[in-house]
Amino acid sequence: MKIETFKVEEWMNSYETKAKYNIAETCVDSVSADELFSLAGKDRQAFFDKLSERRLTYGEIKGAAPLREGISGLYESVSPDDIVTTHGAAGANHLVLYSLTEPEDTVVSVMPTYQQLYSIPRSYGAHVRILKLKKEDRFQPDLDRLRTLVNKKTKMICINNPNNPTGALIPEETLCAIADIARNVGAYLLCDEVYRLLTQEDVPTPSIADIYEKGISTGSVSKVFSLAGLRLGWIATRSKEAMREILLHRDYDTVSCGMIDEALAAAALSAKDALLARNRKIVRENLALLDEWVAKEPRFSYVKPQCGTTALLYCDADMPSEEFCKRLLAETGAFLTPGSCFDEEHCFRIGYACDREELINGLKKLSEFAAKL
Ligand SMILES: Cc1ncc(COP(=O)(O)O)c(C=O)c1O
Repeated sequence: MKIETFKVEEWMNSYETKAKYNIAETCVDSVSADELFSLAGKDRQAFFDKLSERRLTYGEIKGAAPLREGISGLYESVSPDDIVTTHGAAGANHLVLYSLTEPEDTVVSVMPTYQQLYSIPRSYGAHVRILKLKKEDRFQPDLDRLRTLVNKKTKMICINNPNNPTGALIPEETLCAIADIARNVGAYLLCDEVYRLLTQEDVPTPSIADIYEKGISTGSVSKVFSLAGLRLGWIATRSKEAMREILLHRDYDTVSCGMIDEALAAAALSAKDALLARNRKIVRENLALLDEWVAKEPRFSYVKPQCGTTALLYCDADMPSEEFCKRLLAETGAFLTPGSCFDEEHCFRIGYACDREELINGLKKLSEFAAKL
């Protein structure tokens, strides 16, 4: 089956290792297992001693019970039975789309977003309609436009909240309105929530799985809990019909997730408050820094993100975004993601949740580079 190039992943794979100042990374500054245990206030030795005694079987097929219990704690009305683990949120999105949409179905997806949401259904012949998120709307979805895009053949609406790359956060009332639109045509509503909880203010970030009976939330420990190396994600939905299809398809491509990954992810979720406190501090302090930088830079502007780890930085330089990023990397070692990866020009995605010194140095290099253009 042919599929379009996953532009952002291809960009990262090709250039990330060459970066001296990586301000393109989207995870909150990753942690080691040692840091995890110290943050969690848990006995690392006791944990690994117990783990290493266990026989390495396939484990619990739907996901280890303590992990699914921990994940359900991130939702209001989702029980451990409504959760299944996956290989990252990438595995979760793929499985949801592949299990629930078919050739000739209509799928509506926001853009810009993580490319899986539109390129996967397009690859097997679903009719994908794009709901463009515009800068002038502060990247909030235009609901009237969405109403014109759905019809009785719409099998799924795909959104991403908080949004990568813009950092926009859809408020609860808009989520409920989108759920009403989906309900009217009987469609599933997939919400990629991999950046959920990384808020700038102490505001609730409701999940689509709590709001809508056919809502499907995907998430992982990669971004919010700084543990991308575990490759551990999940699907949460109260829809029994959706879960049945997902489990049927999952037997063919996942079987189960790694027992060691699941045990570490469960340990992280049992200490979610400590990890979240660390990571909210990073995103809030680093965004304040970025905000000061944008205010002082005459050539750059942005819509200030409300949540997550990324923002789109717009620049008045008359140069294709890919060329800009390649030259920036070669001449300064600073690494950004070009807007072209999201079909947007005159902009770049910055990941600001990295180590603070790296962000300071990366922005300094970006200022020097832009000043020379
Ligand atoms: C919106 C979004 N969804 C899913 C993923 C995949 O994340 P994971 O590491 O959980 O597979 C990413 C990674 O960048 C992302 O930005």
